[in-house]
Amino acid sequence: MKFFIDTANIDQIMDANSMGMVDGVTTNPSLIAKEDGEFKEIIARICKEVAGPVSAEVISLEYDGMVAEARDLAKIADNIVVKIPMTVEGLKAVKTLTAEGIKTNVTLVFSPLQALMAAKAGATYVSPFVGRLDDLAEEGMELVNEIAQIFANYDFATEIIVASVRSSLHVLDAALMGADIATIPYGVLKKLASHHMTDKGIDAFMADWNKKKQ
Ligand code: E4P
Repeated sequence: MKFFIDTANIDQIMDANSMGMVDGVTTNPSLIAKEDGEFKEIIARICKEVAGPVSAEVISLEYDGMVAEARDLAKIADNIVVKIPMTVEGLKAVKTLTAEGIKTNVTLVFSPLQALMAAKAGATYVSPFVGRLDDLAEEGMELVNEIAQIFANYDFATEIIVASVRSSLHVLDAALMGADIATIPYGVLKKLASHHMTDKGIDAFMADWNKKKQ
């Protein structure tokens, strides 16, 4: 299973990368807005730090604008993936960009049929937003399960990025389901590594060690 990190913050990316936990990065306009600096410079810096795919999202909502922005973003680095919103215009853009060899991540996917359409258009990745569905008392991870079943039925190469991850349980469920990728916020990533019994065990070992030294 691949871990992507869902942030545009370079310090978080570097810290997670030094743990070996960054197979890729996803950003979105809200995450970019939290950082200082110009959009393309932030993305270029991330692409230098991380060898894996780095998703950068278009702002245009019409086909022409999306395609123009995507071509421009793709020039930043070889590992750019252009994030395209799941709309009819977005599907058209994905079809064109796929034919040009530009990788795409279809974002804001909330139904299995949206994912099927994105895969048919040639998307490299689809991003079902599990946390935002959970917020509505709908089963976010069930969406992932259905998409995985549909992709397996028809042998689509499109990979599923479990997105809008809010908790360790989302990551555990994604791993148990065999999801290709989870894109994980930095705070959740840190929680995955910790357990109170580990901390308690370290404290006990240190206390015994220090007693022996005296
Ligand atoms: C995915 O690529 C998005 O950037 C992200 O997971 C959205 O998560 P949110 O619902 O916490 O904003």
